[in-house]
Amino acid sequence: MRNQRVDARVSDAHAALLAVRSGTVDAIVTDPPYAIRRPTAASRISATPVSDLSTDQRASEWLTYAAAEMLGQQSANWRAKATHSRGYADNDPAHFQRWCELWLSECLRVLKPGGHLIAFGGTRTWHRLATAAEVVGFEVRDSLAWMYGTGYPKSLDVGSAVERLLASSTRPWDVSEPAVDWRGWGTTLKPAFEPVVLARAPLDGTVANTVLGHRTGALNIDRIRLEGGRWPTNVFLDEDQARVLDASDDGTVGAEDSRPSRFFWHAKPGRLERERVTINGITHPTVKPVALMRELIRMVTPPDGTVLDPFAGSGTTVEAAIIEGMRCVAFEREASYMPLIQARINYATRAAAPPVDQTQAEGQAETQYALF
Ligand SMILES: C[S@@+](CC[C@H](N)C(=O)[O-])C[C@H]1O[C@@H](n2cnc3c(N)ncnc32)[C@H](O)[C@@H]1O
Repeated sequence: MRNQRVDARVSDAHAALLAVRSGTVDAIVTDPPYAIRRPTAASRISATPVSDLSTDQRASEWLTYAAAEMLGQQSANWRAKATHSRGYADNDPAHFQRWCELWLSECLRVLKPGGHLIAFGGTRTWHRLATAAEVVGFEVRDSLAWMYGTGYPKSLDVGSAVERLLASSTRPWDVSEPAVDWRGWGTTLKPAFEPVVLARAPLDGTVANTVLGHRTGALNIDRIRLEGGRWPTNVFLDEDQARVLDASDDGTVGAEDSRPSRFFWHAKPGRLERERVTINGITHPTVKPVALMRELIRMVTPPDGTVLDPFAGSGTTVEAAIIEGMRCVAFEREASYMPLIQARINYATRAAAPPVDQTQAEGQAETQYALF
């Protein structure tokens, strides 16, 4: 799908990034895989920093990860789809970091000086993502927390596991004093936040010099101020978390101007967002809310700037960028998600369009974003 303002294509992120001209992107806003399986049993991580490799060497090293299975996804059909798997159990942390260094070094190259990177991470692996960003030359500026109420704990029932082991084991376990009742013990907490790395490409001298010369390097605070003009925080709440916070104030949901949630941005979710991007039974397992992505894009992108998402998924970043009046470049490896991205583009084009004759606007959207 390509026109002057949106270029969304089925492609491997690294291969597509290599074709993007250096210093042309204002902001990168992305939600990459949270973990990967070690590519092959024998593969070792090169001791050469990614920055010392030639483009060909980087491309060739990336290829060793081409078949690397993406982990950390919550997909009902992960058995059927090689890209969506059963969580973090098989993650190889060092390989994940090196894999991040490879794509992040291209992100750094295509960003303008002072351009920001916003990348979502998994709670178990984001330190590797942040480290990789730092290793390739980004300055890590902050860690944002996206707090939500919809996660559920995937925990081992330790009591049952112990009972099974005792029943099957021939080893003489000492379960005498002090005996612990393992019922009620687990191995994980309920996930309620996603860490997000906020990093910046090196400035061109000072912030003032960079914003004047490149329109990048700073955060658009006024565009994301909270209720009452409050300074935005690095914590973002979904509707559930905001409700819980407000109810915990004094047991009642407070009046508009006294709710604790007023200190944080919180989602005003679009209605039926997920249904809107389920096309012919295909949906995406890890969609982000459009409202959240719009807020993040507003924060780091100058007006009419270019946002890039190398791991587009269902295209939430694309939809958010169009609605915010930005240009957008997006890559997604799985062709099956392209109809979802197309649907989002059509929707966003209508949402962002000035209120003109609707039939004309719909016709335009379809011809403008012809698949190539
Ligand atoms: C966490 S999901 C992004 C979901 C997205 N934020 C949304 O709201 O729909 C990551 C996406 O990266 C894609 N992906 C994984 N490896 C890739 C690669 N090497 N190149 C391009 N896309 C890739 C996956 O297919 C998946 O759709």
